[in-house]
Amino acid sequence: MDRYAVFGNPINHSKSPMIHTLFAQQTAQQLSYQAIEAPIDGFAEAMTSFFSQGGKGCNITVPFKEEAFVFAQQLTSRAKLAGAVNTLLLSDSGDIIGDNTDGFGLVHDLQQYMELANKRILLLGAGGAARGVIGPLLAQGIEELVIANRTDAKAQTLATLFADKGNIKACSFTALAGDFDLVINSTSASLSGSLPPIASTLISKHTICYDMMYKAEATVFNLWALEQGAELAIDGLGMLVGQAAESFKVWRGITPAMPPVLAALRKTIK
Ligand code: ATR
Repeated sequence: MDRYAVFGNPINHSKSPMIHTLFAQQTAQQLSYQAIEAPIDGFAEAMTSFFSQGGKGCNITVPFKEEAFVFAQQLTSRAKLAGAVNTLLLSDSGDIIGDNTDGFGLVHDLQQYMELANKRILLLGAGGAARGVIGPLLAQGIEELVIANRTDAKAQTLATLFADKGNIKACSFTALAGDFDLVINSTSASLSGSLPPIASTLISKHTICYDMMYKAEATVFNLWALEQGAELAIDGLGMLVGQAAESFKVWRGITPAMPPVLAALRKTIK
């Protein structure tokens, strides 16, 4: 049976084994998928051992996505743009290919709720999670992507890096103006229950808010967005399922149906 896994540290709460097991059942693919904790200082060894024991592909999560980028022998263009790898694949020629499906997952989930073309989008945060989604967002023909971050210089660096890929600019939290069609929270502020410091005037009744985080109840960012009158606040569970579906396609050549898996997952986190 073909063997797949997700590597991270910690990894015990990963939803990926459940998601990929459901995808495999749905598409009648024979495969196994486990969660494996790699030691913080032993990522490359864990990869070498996995692939030398017949592993066909794996997902990579926190904190190893940048190390996976370095470990891969070939990179897809979207992995190069993201500067990080969440999917590794053993190619027919024996090379390990690094890909990044996070941006696909976000864009696919957003498309369930809205058309992205010609929209004005605010991206909060300028870490790895932000960088992974910028290329795929710009590819949707959006009007403008504004990045705001607590540390301004990091937002500026990302805006410069992607300048030739679309209309992108950096702006400090305090100088943000106008209202946005879509506000995406990629900061890790939600983990500590805090909010990026943005003005309520950026949210109007047609604004859709998206928090890349998810939990059983609404995230603090999504609760805040709804209190400010946002039209809709979506959490990152659909992005998680979307990136997994795209990884599954990279490995198996078949795209699984996402809605039933998202519904099953939603039930388990409640
Ligand atoms: P990730 O890979 O999840 O993006 P990261 O690279 O550590 O993780 O980036 C975390 C992001 O969340 C950064 O944009 C960080 O802002 P700084 O660049 O200024 O550090 C942002 N962040 C974390 N905690 C925050 C908070 N309490 N308020 C606002 N932004 C926060």
